Amino acid sequence: MCGIVGYVGKRDCTDVLMNGLSKLEYRGYDSAGIAVFQNGKIEVAKAKGRLKNLEEHMKAEGRPTGQIGIGHTRWATHGEPSDVNSHPHSGGRVTIVHNGIIENYKELKDYLISRGVSFDSDTDTEVVARLLDYRYNGSPIQTISETIRDLEGSYALGIIFADHPEQVYAVRCESPLIAGVGDGENFIASDVPAILEYTRDYYLLEHEEIAVLGRDGVHIFDAYGQPVEKELKTADWDVEAIRKNGYVHFMLKEIHEQPTAIRTTISPRIQNGLPNLEECGITLEVLRGFRQIHVVACGTAMHAGTVGKYVIEKLARVPVTVDIASEFRYCDPLVGTGDLVIVISQSGETADSLAAMRLAKSLGAKTLAIVNAMGSSIAREADMLIYTHAGPEIAVASTKAYMVQIAVMYLFAFELALAVGQIDETECRRLVTLLEQTPDSIAEILERKEQVQYIASSLITADSLLYIGRGLDYALSMEGSLKLKEISYIHSESYAAGELKHGTISLITENMPVIAVATQTALREKTISNIKEVKARGARVILVCRASDTIDPEAVDLRYDLPDFDDLLMPMIAVVPLQLIAYYTSVLKGNDVDKPRNLAKSVTVE
Ligand code: F6R
Repeated sequence: MCGIVGYVGKRDCTDVLMNGLSKLEYRGYDSAGIAVFQNGKIEVAKAKGRLKNLEEHMKAEGRPTGQIGIGHTRWATHGEPSDVNSHPHSGGRVTIVHNGIIENYKELKDYLISRGVSFDSDTDTEVVARLLDYRYNGSPIQTISETIRDLEGSYALGIIFADHPEQVYAVRCESPLIAGVGDGENFIASDVPAILEYTRDYYLLEHEEIAVLGRDGVHIFDAYGQPVEKELKTADWDVEAIRKNGYVHFMLKEIHEQPTAIRTTISPRIQNGLPNLEECGITLEVLRGFRQIHVVACGTAMHAGTVGKYVIEKLARVPVTVDIASEFRYCDPLVGTGDLVIVISQSGETADSLAAMRLAKSLGAKTLAIVNAMGSSIAREADMLIYTHAGPEIAVASTKAYMVQIAVMYLFAFELALAVGQIDETECRRLVTLLEQTPDSIAEILERKEQVQYIASSLITADSLLYIGRGLDYALSMEGSLKLKEISYIHSESYAAGELKHGTISLITENMPVIAVATQTALREKTISNIKEVKARGARVILVCRASDTIDPEAVDLRYDLPDFDDLLMPMIAVVPLQLIAYYTSVLKGNDVDKPRNLAKSVTVE
């Protein structure tokens, strides 16, 4: 949540900051602001709402010009989205941008008020700015080092001191932050896309490390102000990956990138037709050692884990639980030695998932992270790690990251089933071949969108709808439902089709469309019976099934026809029309598809 950037160099700083913020807007877009040294004086411009509001504001009020500054795009936590609560915040000689939450800000604020300090905003961030200013003794590093000892919570801070107009300072605790290294110019950013147009080289700041950026270079110090030697990393993402490349929205682009993302993720992990996860620390011996598996994640990533549970239990007969990370961490979980805890996360920074993983480790479980963002906290702290290679996912609604998360869950399930002797090599090879064929079927779906567009147009007037399915179709419908509600703002729930009649069916009227998913052959007739039950009560039914399925036309109003594919891997194929239905419904409603209201991509607060 929240994106921060900083620049020291020779370019027009406002351009670099605005460009960087545009790449980070996925992290929050309640307000935006910049602070730039203009002729040695700090000039601040900020505005409520999207980055374009800040552009408009600067057109009207003047655009700061200079070569050194910091910028911010906000996802509000403390204090409503407003001009005054927007970052940067100044506390006299110190101006800062902040990503994260200062948990003890109230005590610190009371303390400062008791010392005569006054405040302009409701934010926890201003408390840090004022505290830094209160402590400031002319030495930025010493002041930062002393101040962070009093901060509780999570933060990544970009800081400028009025009397040090040639430097930008930064420090982090939990919230991600990198320091980009260019030629005569240097950067700070919450994420790599913000600097990719200028440099690929960066340092990943660790817990409580302090970075000092000048034109001559980046210097890093530990929490006590001692210099630290760090390894320079190089981003392997393509600049094209962070552009829309002709697509109207990032979400549509990312849906289209799924076939490639699957291939890039699975190919290096397949050898001689069998899964090989050794480079991730996973061998057949390691796999044989687990008595139970727990998947812990949030949102879409948790839905990917739910698909994984069905597949692992079916193929390997190893018990799997799936938990929402924010529940897991406080439920005194029954996890311990001999258990494997799989944490799935696109960003690798989700606060609840990270905390759940730390808890699992402390209880003696082994942890496996399935993560997209390289070098992220979850990736670094897990015992074993499988990177998904989806490339940057910019749209807030996750699509390609989900796809590769489930692709990895399949590979993992195949290898586990082989390890514990539930399948032999021939069956394992057959399954791997099927997984390798999924991109072609997905590409086929992406070729024809008329059917989904028509379905979407039939949904835009609905206030609420239900997704139903059984087994893997139920797991999948959870994701279809979340995708629809988060970007179309139409309320929806997913239900196990057989469970409806135990209460929820009372909601069914002609105003409640039902999207039924029926791809699992053994369960199809059961689901069709449930469809008939809702149809008989007036529901408009949209059925997602195979083109080859013969279904009583009286039972459904609209159909989406899937290509034929193996039942077990069908979620990878069937999720695509569900993503597209959500996408087109949102487009038809005129919503901001890539940046739905109230959301942010990387949820680094609890
Ligand atoms: C929904 C979505 C979220 C994330 C969730 C976890 O489209 O993207 O539900 O899946 O916030 O995020 P990560 O995967 O970064 O841990």
